[in-house]
Amino acid sequence: MLHDSNRIFIFDTTLRDGEQVPGSQLTTPEKIIIGEALQSLGVDIIEAGFPISSPGDFQSVIELSKIIREPIICALSRAKKGDIDLAAEALKYAKHPRIHTGIGSSDMHIKYKFNSTREEILERAVEAVKYAKKFVEDVEFYAEDAGRADNVYLAQMIEAVIAAGATVVNIPDTNGYCLPEEYGAKIRFLKENVKNIDQAIISVHCHNDLGLATANSMAGLQNGARQVECTINGIGERAGNTSLEEVVMILKTHRSLNLHNNINTQHLYKLSGMVSRMMRMPVQPNKAIIGKNAFAHSSGIHQDGVLKHRETYEIINPEDVGIDQSEIILTARSGRHALKHHLERLGYSVDRIDLDHAYERFLEMADKKKEIKDDDLLLLMGNGNDTT
Ligand code: KIV
Ligand code: ZN
Repeated sequence: MLHDSNRIFIFDTTLRDGEQVPGSQLTTPEKIIIGEALQSLGVDIIEAGFPISSPGDFQSVIELSKIIREPIICALSRAKKGDIDLAAEALKYAKHPRIHTGIGSSDMHIKYKFNSTREEILERAVEAVKYAKKFVEDVEFYAEDAGRADNVYLAQMIEAVIAAGATVVNIPDTNGYCLPEEYGAKIRFLKENVKNIDQAIISVHCHNDLGLATANSMAGLQNGARQVECTINGIGERAGNTSLEEVVMILKTHRSLNLHNNINTQHLYKLSGMVSRMMRMPVQPNKAIIGKNAFAHSSGIHQDGVLKHRETYEIINPEDVGIDQSEIILTARSGRHALKHHLERLGYSVDRIDLDHAYERFLEMADKKKEIKDDDLLLLMGNGNDTT
């Protein structure tokens, strides 16, 4: 993998962490359609599945490995030989294979999940990486629940797995627990205290339990991480994962961060709709970047501003995410400027009509309806069918 110090690698886990959402399971052909769309989007790594989890997942990783040629294909495994064997088997056709293996790193997980000790878990982590290295060169290690792990122990674990051959070290905030400053400081601590850290890429993998997944991922990137794990529409376990479109558009909007990636952002809107439909997970209207209302202006003050100059109330050009243009929604909160805009769009010569009078009638109608559509405007101007 190339090492440009400001290049951010986009690791998409829609097909693995995203697909763990109840009711959102995908068939292998659906995964292939999404995988190909992710390849066109320009992601660097596709986490294709968790082969030991089911024969279907195993088969999906095989099929995606055969078809996807540009991004790295990654398969998840626990720190167990059987898991790693199956991940390696599923990746045998991949042009760029990666095994993602790991184990819990917080005392909570060590004690209650593994009934073990820090020393024993560290040994198992190293063994898993060494074992995965027998099959593939590219091995990513995840320190599960790193968000709640003791930083000094986490640093020891990370140093040991890099020495064992890990090429990427993933620091998951598995439970979405951290505050952005805390998570950023954790990444900085690893950068400053793990002797061999420059031999691996640090990856951030944040969950959204407190609504902080994107903020935490950004804090990680600003403190030295260079891979971000995310999903389309932010889908994933519980409250979800970091949303790919949010991180990518933050990086694009804040050029002064000087962090770049390979994503063709114009594909975002279409891909979001495809994932939402196939995974039966509607996108909330106010979802940043790709929600139905993300580029819809409905208050009179904002509409007037946008009609004078788009950037008064739009920090993103809708075309950059694949939306033709923003919308001016006509409601009882709209002003004359918005009404004039829509009448002109429908071909009326506004100089020749009494706008004040039309606006009065418009308000009467708008008070009775949530939104005024084109048919309503035609009716208002005296040539249309009543749609009420
Ligand atoms: O959230 C998490 O810790 C994970 C790991 C398996 C990478 O998804
Ligand atoms: Zn996760």
